[in-house]
Amino acid sequence: MLDYSGLRSYGYSEWFEHYVENRKQVLAVDFSQEGTLTESEKALLYPSIADFQRGEASEGKHLLAASKRFARTAGQPAYADTIKLFIEEENQHSAYLKEFMQFHGMQLKKNSVLDGVFRLVRKGKGIHPEVAVLVSAEIIAICYYAALRNASSSPSFEIYLREDSA
Ligand SMILES: [Fe+2]
Repeated sequence: MLDYSGLRSYGYSEWFEHYVENRKQVLAVDFSQEGTLTESEKALLYPSIADFQRGEASEGKHLLAASKRFARTAGQPAYADTIKLFIEEENQHSAYLKEFMQFHGMQLKKNSVLDGVFRLVRKGKGIHPEVAVLVSAEIIAICYYAALRNASSSPSFEIYLREDSA
């Protein structure tokens, strides 16, 4: 049986404060200690990093619209503001990945099949599918970034990964 006693739930206003605090900590990563990735390392990293970079760059228009509707009907005004900050934080993660990719000469993807699938599944179906897909993506990201952290010797990447999986 699982023990939930150490867990606490956060209200929407607490999540809002969480994202407000996080946005005060934008990283300026120093690439001076960054080594060179081999072509095989780049080939291994590229498909997934490029997908994450693309996915986290989403403007989240549908999510934002759904969150505003939910905020109104549920009488939870902080909800939409919190989702807006969440989207902006994900965009910052995308910017970190972009910086890393560009430093290593990796081309950014304009489109991602995976991102397209995520969009298709959640688009226009209301807040619950939007959030379910996002939570799924975040769970995948936790595992993905942990695997990358174990596999990477890049100092700048280590900093990004700490930020993105926090
Ligand atoms: Fe992220």
